[in-house]
Amino acid sequence: MTALTDPMKKIIDDELSHYPADKRQSAIIGALMGVQREHGGHLDQFIIDAVADYMDIPRIAAYEVATFYSMFNLSPTGQYQLSVCANISCMLNGADTIIDTIKETLDVTPDGVSEDGLFSLKLVSCLGHCDNAPMLQVNDQRCVMKLTPEKVKMLLSELRGGAKL
Ligand code: FES
Repeated sequence: MTALTDPMKKIIDDELSHYPADKRQSAIIGALMGVQREHGGHLDQFIIDAVADYMDIPRIAAYEVATFYSMFNLSPTGQYQLSVCANISCMLNGADTIIDTIKETLDVTPDGVSEDGLFSLKLVSCLGHCDNAPMLQVNDQRCVMKLTPEKVKMLLSELRGGAKL
């Protein structure tokens, strides 16, 4: 059984404070987002159970959210999570080449982490920048658009060198 830390409990309490007592379930997205940040960037079965139990909501309600939205990671991530849009506009504009470039350059598979722990690759649905396809997002901080294989290699090299997001 995973125990929630005090900072995790505070995050959940803060989220719960925005909703009436009989609508506790509405706080689940914010609660899971905050707990994920505190938990090294990902969630697992035990931490999801712990959040649901602490919030006094059905565990299935937490799983419905954690397994639906791509912003939740259900396995460990690298320091830099590369979320590559694999939806229609990006695919029509070469996302498959971008994905292949990342896989080959980092020797990583979707939902996997590079050997040095720096990068993880995730394929996601539309991130709302279809007019600048293909694109990816680094962590939840930076979007890089109109990608080419060369631009991706440059980005990876910058991140390896410690560039700020
Ligand atoms: S289809 Fe890729 S950002 Fe919309």
